[in-house]
Amino acid sequence: MSDTPSINAYLVTADKDGHVTAGPTTITTDQLPDQDIEIAVEWSSLNFKDTLAAAGNRRVAGDLPHVPGIDAAGTVVADGSKVLVTGYGLGAPGWGGWAERIRVPANWVCVRPEGLSARAAMQLGTAGLTAAMAVEAIALGQVEPDSGPVLVTGATGGVGLLSVALLSHLGFQVVASTGKADQHEMLKRMGAAEIIDRDEVLRDADGPLASARWAAAVDVVGGDTLSAVIRTTRPQAVVAACGLVGGVDITATVYPFLLRGVTLAGIDSAGCPGPRRTELWNRLADAWALEGLDEITQEVSLDQLDTSIALMRNGDHIGRTIVRLADDD
Ligand SMILES: NC(=O)c1ccc[n+]([C@@H]2O[C@H](COP(=O)([O-])OP(=O)(O)OC[C@H]3O[C@@H](n4cnc5c(N)ncnc54)[C@H](OP(=O)(O)O)[C@@H]3O)[C@@H](O)[C@H]2O)c1
Repeated sequence: MSDTPSINAYLVTADKDGHVTAGPTTITTDQLPDQDIEIAVEWSSLNFKDTLAAAGNRRVAGDLPHVPGIDAAGTVVADGSKVLVTGYGLGAPGWGGWAERIRVPANWVCVRPEGLSARAAMQLGTAGLTAAMAVEAIALGQVEPDSGPVLVTGATGGVGLLSVALLSHLGFQVVASTGKADQHEMLKRMGAAEIIDRDEVLRDADGPLASARWAAAVDVVGGDTLSAVIRTTRPQAVVAACGLVGGVDITATVYPFLLRGVTLAGIDSAGCPGPRRTELWNRLADAWALEGLDEITQEVSLDQLDTSIALMRNGDHIGRTIVRLADDD
């Protein structure tokens, strides 16, 4: 038996026949990767990518055993500084935040802005950074709040809901597209001016250039939805492509780009460069700080994660699930 400290973690393993099992267990800190900075994790969160890692998807998780969790917030063990880590290789393919300790390269570590608790940081997490990058791309494209309606697809999910809230906070007229008919009131409370069924995005979107509806869009669905969004944008629109829950292949012609000046902005939050990341986290803690996030937050322990993972896999998850590893600072 090892005499190094034991920690609680959610571990994904495979037996000799390749059968994957996943769940909470105890590991020792000497099993953690040999990296520069050890962080005592207070809160982590659940993102779509984590559901793939938890299922043992090797393209996400890399080699097994694996600890998922692309987000973590806590304190540096060596000096007590308050930090957060999202993306880079955390949880995919490196060992991630669903553990009481992580070890990561120094350049992955972001100082938590003053006043942003570990819990509040994880209410945002990768979903919040992604929403912030999408909103920044829309603003860089000169789309203004009075340019017209901004579509957000997958609006009750993590990225979608935080995009709705952030765009509304900045004065945009947000149209939320959802498959959940019972969540319209919640979407309005989070800032949506109008709610449409997700099928409506696909309607009247035939032909290389269909009716010009959206001044901008944040899309987490991909596939046919993103294809339709590109065809139904107004001149000079920005479409921020964030996700793939509905498919990876898109069908497009060059016409929206050449005849309407549409910008397709790819969002890669995992690879967001350090200085831009720091700037966006500072904004999220200050001028872009969002109210009402407790309404869309579920707190779970490692033992309760499987239920939330199942909901997200089925497309039934709402808002943000944050994972408690220790008491908050
Ligand atoms: N590019 C990046 O840096 C980045 C960062 C984070 C996440 N992502 C990606 O963004 C996507 C969303 O991530 P998330 O963490 O927000 O996940 P999430 O919380 O599960 O949200 C996804 C939402 O999409 C909708 N949806 C689910 N299945 C669908 C389907 N088959 N067709 C149409 N809509 C569907 C649902 O919303 P409604 O019921 O309201 O329609 C669901 O709540 C994922 O593909 C993820 O990999 C990308």
